[in-house]
Amino acid sequence: MKQLIDLTDIPNLNDLVALARQIKQNPLQNKHLGEGKTIGLLFFNASLRTRLSTQKAAQNLGLNCMVMNLNTEGWQIEFEDGAVMNQGTQEHIKEAAQVVSQYCDIIGLRTFATLSDKEADYAETVIQKFKQYATSPIVSLESATLHPLQSIADLITIEEQKTIEQPKIVLTWAPHPRALPQAVGNSFAAFAGEFYENVSICNPKGFDLAPEFTKNAKVYHNQEEALKDADFVYAKNWSSYENYGATTDAHNDWTITQEKLKPGAKFMHCLPIRRNVIATDAVLDSSASLVIEQANNRTFSAQAVLQSILNENK
Ligand code: CP
Repeated sequence: MKQLIDLTDIPNLNDLVALARQIKQNPLQNKHLGEGKTIGLLFFNASLRTRLSTQKAAQNLGLNCMVMNLNTEGWQIEFEDGAVMNQGTQEHIKEAAQVVSQYCDIIGLRTFATLSDKEADYAETVIQKFKQYATSPIVSLESATLHPLQSIADLITIEEQKTIEQPKIVLTWAPHPRALPQAVGNSFAAFAGEFYENVSICNPKGFDLAPEFTKNAKVYHNQEEALKDADFVYAKNWSSYENYGATTDAHNDWTITQEKLKPGAKFMHCLPIRRNVIATDAVLDSSASLVIEQANNRTFSAQAVLQSILNENK
Protein backbone atom coordinates (compact mmCIF):
# COMPACT_ATOMS: atom_id res chain seq x y z
CA MET A 1 0.00 0.00 0.00
CA LYS A 2 1.40 3.39 -0.96
CA GLN A 3 -0.85 5.60 1.19
CA LEU A 4 -4.30 5.52 2.79
CA ILE A 5 -6.80 8.22 1.91
CA ASP A 6 -9.71 6.20 0.54
CA LEU A 7 -10.78 2.71 -0.54
CA THR A 8 -8.92 2.97 -3.86
CA ASP A 9 -5.61 2.98 -1.95
CA ILE A 10 -6.28 -0.52 -0.58
CA PRO A 11 -5.19 -3.19 -3.07
CA ASN A 12 -7.32 -5.90 -1.39
CA LEU A 13 -9.64 -5.06 1.51
CA ASN A 14 -10.14 -8.73 2.48
CA ASP A 15 -6.38 -9.24 2.71
CA LEU A 16 -5.94 -6.08 4.80
CA VAL A 17 -8.63 -7.11 7.31
CA ALA A 18 -7.11 -10.61 7.48
CA LEU A 19 -3.65 -9.08 8.07
CA ALA A 20 -5.02 -6.92 10.90
CA ARG A 21 -6.60 -9.97 12.55
CA GLN A 22 -3.34 -11.87 12.22
CA ILE A 23 -1.39 -8.94 13.74
CA LYS A 24 -3.86 -8.92 16.66
CA GLN A 25 -2.71 -12.45 17.57
CA ASN A 26 0.86 -11.20 18.11
CA PRO A 27 1.13 -7.40 17.87
CA LEU A 28 4.91 -7.36 18.33
CA GLN A 29 5.67 -9.82 15.50
CA ASN A 30 7.20 -7.03 13.38
CA LYS A 31 8.59 -4.87 16.15
CA HIS A 32 11.78 -4.04 14.19
CA LEU A 33 10.13 -3.19 10.84
CA GLY A 34 9.92 0.54 11.51
CA GLU A 35 13.22 0.95 13.35
CA GLY A 36 15.02 4.16 12.39
CA LYS A 37 11.86 5.59 10.82
CA THR A 38 9.43 8.22 12.09
CA ILE A 39 5.71 8.78 11.76
CA GLY A 40 4.21 12.19 12.44
CA LEU A 41 0.57 12.37 13.55
CA LEU A 42 -0.88 15.80 12.84
CA PHE A 43 -4.29 16.69 14.25
CA PHE A 44 -6.53 19.55 13.19
CA ASN A 45 -9.13 18.53 15.77
CA ALA A 46 -9.64 16.57 18.96
CA SER A 47 -9.08 12.82 19.24
CA LEU A 48 -8.74 10.10 21.85
CA ARG A 49 -8.86 6.78 19.97
CA THR A 50 -7.17 7.75 16.73
CA ARG A 51 -4.31 9.48 18.46
CA LEU A 52 -3.55 6.73 20.99
CA SER A 53 -4.28 3.67 18.82
CA THR A 54 -2.15 4.94 15.91
CA GLN A 55 0.65 5.83 18.31
CA LYS A 56 0.43 2.35 19.82
CA ALA A 57 0.41 0.73 16.37
CA ALA A 58 3.52 2.74 15.44
CA GLN A 59 5.28 1.70 18.65
CA ASN A 60 4.41 -1.97 18.00
CA LEU A 61 6.24 -1.63 14.66
CA GLY A 62 9.30 0.07 16.18
CA LEU A 63 8.50 3.44 14.59
CA ASN A 64 9.36 6.69 16.33
CA CYS A 65 6.17 8.67 16.70
CA MET A 66 5.71 12.44 16.90
CA VAL A 67 2.28 13.92 17.60
CA MET A 68 1.24 17.53 17.08
CA ASN A 69 -2.10 19.29 17.48
CA LEU A 70 -1.70 21.57 14.48
CA ASN A 71 -4.78 23.64 15.22
CA THR A 72 -3.61 24.69 18.69
CA GLU A 73 0.17 24.23 18.59
CA GLY A 74 1.16 25.07 15.01
CA TRP A 75 0.99 28.13 12.79
CA GLN A 76 -2.31 28.65 11.03
CA ILE A 77 -1.94 27.08 7.59
CA GLU A 78 -2.94 28.65 4.28
CA PHE A 79 -4.23 26.16 1.68
CA GLU A 80 -5.02 28.52 -1.20
CA ASP A 81 -2.46 28.78 -3.99
CA GLY A 82 -1.54 32.38 -4.75
CA ALA A 83 -3.03 33.69 -1.50
CA VAL A 84 -1.85 37.08 -0.29
CA MET A 85 -1.15 36.06 3.28
CA ASN A 86 -1.77 39.36 5.01
CA GLN A 87 -4.64 38.06 7.14
CA GLY A 88 -4.87 35.21 9.70
CA THR A 89 -2.81 32.43 8.09
CA GLN A 90 0.92 32.37 8.82
CA GLU A 91 2.36 29.34 6.97
CA HIS A 92 1.56 27.99 3.51
CA ILE A 93 0.87 24.30 2.98
CA LYS A 94 3.64 24.28 0.31
CA GLU A 95 6.32 24.82 2.95
CA ALA A 96 4.55 23.00 5.80
CA ALA A 97 4.06 19.72 3.91
CA GLN A 98 7.64 19.68 2.55
CA VAL A 99 9.10 20.48 5.97
CA VAL A 100 7.08 17.76 7.75
CA SER A 101 8.16 15.29 5.05
CA GLN A 102 11.81 15.93 5.95
CA TYR A 103 11.13 14.85 9.54
CA CYS A 104 8.62 12.05 8.92
CA ASP A 105 8.70 8.90 6.76
CA ILE A 106 4.90 8.63 7.10
CA ILE A 107 2.47 11.49 7.79
CA GLY A 108 -0.84 10.79 9.54
CA LEU A 109 -3.37 13.58 9.14
CA ARG A 110 -6.64 14.19 11.01
CA THR A 111 -8.71 16.84 9.25
CA PHE A 112 -12.34 17.76 9.72
CA ALA A 113 -15.20 18.86 7.50
CA THR A 114 -16.06 22.56 7.51
CA LEU A 115 -19.76 21.59 7.10
CA SER A 116 -20.18 24.99 5.40
CA ASP A 117 -18.19 24.49 2.17
CA LYS A 118 -19.48 21.26 0.61
CA GLU A 119 -17.31 21.60 -2.49
CA ALA A 120 -14.09 22.01 -0.48
CA ASP A 121 -15.00 19.23 1.94
CA TYR A 122 -15.88 16.71 -0.80
CA ALA A 123 -12.76 17.70 -2.78
CA GLU A 124 -10.83 16.83 0.42
CA THR A 125 -8.92 20.09 0.03
CA VAL A 126 -6.79 19.78 3.19
CA ILE A 127 -5.60 16.18 2.76
CA GLN A 128 -5.17 16.58 -1.02
CA LYS A 129 -3.07 19.72 -0.57
CA PHE A 130 -0.86 17.88 1.92
CA LYS A 131 -0.58 15.03 -0.59
CA GLN A 132 0.33 17.44 -3.39
CA TYR A 133 3.29 18.95 -1.55
CA ALA A 134 4.39 16.15 0.82
CA THR A 135 7.08 13.71 -0.26
CA SER A 136 6.17 11.11 2.40
CA PRO A 137 3.09 8.87 2.24
CA ILE A 138 -0.11 10.19 3.81
CA VAL A 139 -2.38 8.18 6.09
CA SER A 140 -5.83 9.60 6.76
CA LEU A 141 -6.63 9.69 10.47
CA GLU A 142 -10.11 10.87 9.36
CA SER A 143 -10.67 13.37 6.61
CA ALA A 144 -13.57 15.63 5.69
CA THR A 145 -15.52 12.78 4.06
CA LEU A 146 -14.02 9.46 5.21
CA HIS A 147 -12.59 7.67 8.25
CA PRO A 148 -10.82 4.62 6.74
CA LEU A 149 -8.94 3.42 9.84
CA GLN A 150 -12.24 3.39 11.74
CA SER A 151 -13.98 1.45 8.97
CA ILE A 152 -11.23 -1.17 8.82
CA ALA A 153 -11.52 -1.59 12.62
CA ASP A 154 -15.29 -1.94 12.20
CA LEU A 155 -14.86 -4.70 9.61
CA ILE A 156 -12.38 -6.53 11.89
CA THR A 157 -14.98 -6.35 14.68
CA ILE A 158 -17.81 -7.69 12.53
CA GLU A 159 -15.58 -10.49 11.21
CA GLU A 160 -14.74 -11.49 14.80
CA GLN A 161 -18.35 -11.39 15.99
CA LYS A 162 -20.46 -12.64 13.08
CA THR A 163 -22.12 -16.05 13.34
CA ILE A 164 -23.18 -16.29 9.69
CA GLU A 165 -21.17 -15.60 6.54
CA GLN A 166 -23.32 -12.66 5.37
CA PRO A 167 -24.94 -10.98 8.38
CA LYS A 168 -27.55 -8.27 7.98
CA ILE A 169 -25.75 -4.99 8.74
CA VAL A 170 -27.65 -1.73 9.21
CA LEU A 171 -26.09 1.70 9.50
CA THR A 172 -28.66 3.93 11.17
CA TRP A 173 -28.66 7.69 11.62
CA ALA A 174 -29.25 8.68 15.25
CA PRO A 175 -29.98 12.02 16.93
CA HIS A 176 -27.25 14.43 18.07
CA PRO A 177 -27.38 18.00 19.41
CA ARG A 178 -24.59 19.35 17.15
CA ALA A 179 -23.81 19.20 13.43
CA LEU A 180 -21.40 16.35 12.70
CA PRO A 181 -19.57 15.41 9.48
CA GLN A 182 -20.76 12.58 7.25
CA ALA A 183 -17.27 10.98 7.32
CA VAL A 184 -17.92 7.94 9.53
CA GLY A 185 -21.26 7.24 7.83
CA ASN A 186 -19.81 7.59 4.33
CA SER A 187 -16.85 5.47 5.24
CA PHE A 188 -18.75 2.63 6.90
CA ALA A 189 -21.26 2.58 4.03
CA ALA A 190 -18.47 2.35 1.46
CA PHE A 191 -16.24 -0.17 3.27
CA ALA A 192 -19.03 -2.44 4.57
CA GLY A 193 -20.77 -2.21 1.19
CA GLU A 194 -17.56 -3.39 -0.47
CA PHE A 195 -17.01 -6.20 2.06
CA TYR A 196 -20.51 -7.58 2.70
CA GLU A 197 -23.59 -8.40 0.62
CA ASN A 198 -26.37 -7.36 3.03
CA VAL A 199 -25.79 -3.74 4.04
CA SER A 200 -28.59 -1.22 4.61
CA ILE A 201 -28.64 2.40 5.67
CA CYS A 202 -31.54 4.20 7.30
CA ASN A 203 -31.88 7.90 7.92
CA PRO A 204 -34.63 10.53 7.95
CA LYS A 205 -35.55 12.09 4.62
CA GLY A 206 -33.11 14.89 3.78
CA PHE A 207 -30.22 13.01 5.44
CA ASP A 208 -29.20 10.61 2.64
CA LEU A 209 -25.44 10.20 2.42
CA ALA A 210 -23.62 11.08 -0.80
CA PRO A 211 -24.58 8.44 -3.41
CA GLU A 212 -20.94 7.73 -4.32
CA PHE A 213 -20.54 6.00 -0.94
CA THR A 214 -23.86 4.14 -0.72
CA LYS A 215 -24.06 2.37 -4.10
CA ASN A 216 -23.72 -1.09 -2.48
CA ALA A 217 -26.35 -0.46 0.23
CA LYS A 218 -30.13 -0.35 0.36
CA VAL A 219 -31.40 2.99 1.72
CA TYR A 220 -34.47 3.24 3.99
CA HIS A 221 -36.19 6.23 5.57
CA ASN A 222 -38.12 4.08 8.04
CA GLN A 223 -35.89 2.94 10.89
CA GLU A 224 -38.20 0.15 12.14
CA GLU A 225 -38.38 -1.39 8.69
CA ALA A 226 -34.59 -1.20 8.21
CA LEU A 227 -33.68 -2.63 11.63
CA LYS A 228 -35.93 -5.69 11.27
CA ASP A 229 -33.80 -8.84 11.77
CA ALA A 230 -30.54 -6.84 11.77
CA ASP A 231 -27.53 -8.75 13.13
CA PHE A 232 -25.37 -5.63 13.45
CA VAL A 233 -26.77 -2.15 14.12
CA TYR A 234 -24.22 0.64 13.60
CA ALA A 235 -25.55 3.95 14.90
CA LYS A 236 -24.07 7.30 13.93
CA ASN A 237 -25.25 10.84 13.54
CA TRP A 238 -24.40 12.89 10.49
CA SER A 239 -25.58 16.28 9.33
CA SER A 240 -27.33 16.69 5.99
CA TYR A 241 -25.36 16.23 2.78
CA GLU A 242 -28.21 17.62 0.67
CA ASN A 243 -28.84 20.75 2.80
CA TYR A 244 -25.18 20.80 3.65
CA GLY A 245 -24.39 20.77 7.36
CA ALA A 246 -28.01 21.16 8.50
CA THR A 247 -29.19 19.29 11.60
CA THR A 248 -32.62 18.37 12.91
CA ASP A 249 -34.22 17.80 16.30
CA ALA A 250 -37.32 16.30 14.73
CA HIS A 251 -36.22 12.66 15.01
CA ASN A 252 -35.30 12.09 18.64
CA ASP A 253 -37.17 8.78 18.49
CA TRP A 254 -34.28 7.41 16.35
CA THR A 255 -32.20 6.80 19.54
CA ILE A 256 -31.22 3.11 19.68
CA THR A 257 -32.95 1.26 22.52
CA GLN A 258 -32.79 -2.41 23.53
CA GLU A 259 -36.27 -2.89 22.09
CA LYS A 260 -34.95 -1.99 18.62
CA LEU A 261 -32.34 -4.78 18.70
CA LYS A 262 -33.40 -8.37 18.02
CA PRO A 263 -32.09 -10.96 20.53
CA GLY A 264 -28.41 -11.59 19.79
CA ALA A 265 -28.03 -8.46 17.66
CA LYS A 266 -24.86 -6.43 18.16
CA PHE A 267 -24.60 -2.67 18.58
CA MET A 268 -21.77 -0.62 17.09
CA HIS A 269 -20.58 3.00 17.25
CA CYS A 270 -17.18 4.58 16.54
CA LEU A 271 -17.09 6.59 19.82
CA PRO A 272 -17.18 9.10 21.38
CA ILE A 273 -20.89 8.55 21.93
CA ARG A 274 -23.48 10.76 23.61
CA ARG A 275 -25.24 8.34 25.98
CA ASN A 276 -29.04 8.37 25.96
CA VAL A 277 -28.98 10.46 22.77
CA ILE A 278 -27.44 8.11 20.16
CA ALA A 279 -28.11 4.96 22.22
CA THR A 280 -29.40 4.29 25.71
CA ASP A 281 -27.29 3.28 28.71
CA ALA A 282 -29.06 -0.09 28.61
CA VAL A 283 -27.71 -0.76 25.09
CA LEU A 284 -24.20 0.52 25.78
CA ASP A 285 -23.89 -1.37 29.07
CA SER A 286 -25.23 -4.63 27.64
CA SER A 287 -23.40 -7.55 26.05
CA ALA A 288 -24.82 -6.39 22.70
CA SER A 289 -22.41 -3.45 22.63
CA LEU A 290 -19.19 -3.84 20.63
CA VAL A 291 -17.99 -0.26 21.04
CA ILE A 292 -15.02 -1.07 23.29
CA GLU A 293 -13.82 -3.84 20.98
CA GLN A 294 -14.19 -1.53 17.97
CA ALA A 295 -11.87 0.92 19.74
CA ASN A 296 -9.46 -1.92 20.57
CA ASN A 297 -9.36 -2.91 16.92
CA ARG A 298 -8.29 0.60 15.92
CA THR A 299 -4.74 -0.39 16.93
CA PHE A 300 -4.69 -3.40 14.60
CA SER A 301 -6.37 -1.51 11.79
CA ALA A 302 -3.66 1.17 11.99
CA GLN A 303 -0.90 -1.39 12.40
CA ALA A 304 -1.95 -3.33 9.29
CA VAL A 305 -1.94 -0.10 7.27
CA LEU A 306 1.41 1.16 8.61
CA GLN A 307 3.00 -2.27 8.13
CA SER A 308 1.76 -2.39 4.51
CA ILE A 309 3.16 1.10 3.82
CA LEU A 310 6.49 0.30 5.45
CA ASN A 311 6.79 -2.90 3.39
CA GLU A 312 6.01 -0.96 0.20
CA ASN A 313 8.77 1.56 0.96
CA LYS A 314 11.52 -0.79 2.23
N1 CP B 1 -13.52 7.06 16.62
C1 CP B 1 -12.60 8.04 16.63
O1 CP B 1 -12.01 8.41 15.60
O2 CP B 1 -12.34 8.55 17.87
P1 CP B 1 -11.48 9.85 18.15
O3 CP B 1 -12.18 11.01 17.51
O4 CP B 1 -11.41 9.96 19.66
O5 CP B 1 -10.13 9.66 17.54
